[in-house]
Amino acid sequence: MKIAIGNDHAAVEMKNAILDYLTDLGHDVINYGTDTKKSCHYPVYGEKVANAVAGGTADCGILICGTGAGISIAANKVKGIRAAVCSDVTTARLVKEHNNANIIAFGARIVGIETAKDIVDAFLNTEFAGGRHQERIDMITALEERYFSRGGES
Ligand code: RB5
Repeated sequence: MKIAIGNDHAAVEMKNAILDYLTDLGHDVINYGTDTKKSCHYPVYGEKVANAVAGGTADCGILICGTGAGISIAANKVKGIRAAVCSDVTTARLVKEHNNANIIAFGARIVGIETAKDIVDAFLNTEFAGGRHQERIDMITALEERYFSRGGES
């Protein structure tokens, strides 16, 4: 699978650990995050990964900041993106099964590396259930049409 990964300065070690983990599993991981601990701005990396996913360069995305909150909020401003913050495996499974999330986010200051790997596994190994859930996704897409007035720059 082609996976876009992004992070800010709070999550460099976590990003590297997840990137190595997924590469060892045979995934093609594209690193859009910062590789230094110098303070930076998480919306930059949220946008990069969101654009890669929305534009089809990657099949899905992983975003990591201190909490997972800021970077996912930024990513969700890109049309077509459903980024969900997860701190546990059950949520990671359900955001794919019910919400068809195309980006998963978590916090390097919130979860440990083993939990993070389990979260990523749950997200990647779960299928969207469709059915009644598709209708709700369609409603979210309709919200984008109503409130997002123009496309972004890539
Ligand atoms: C950076 O200090 C921190 O604010 C950021 O990583 C993230 O937690 C924001 O949501």
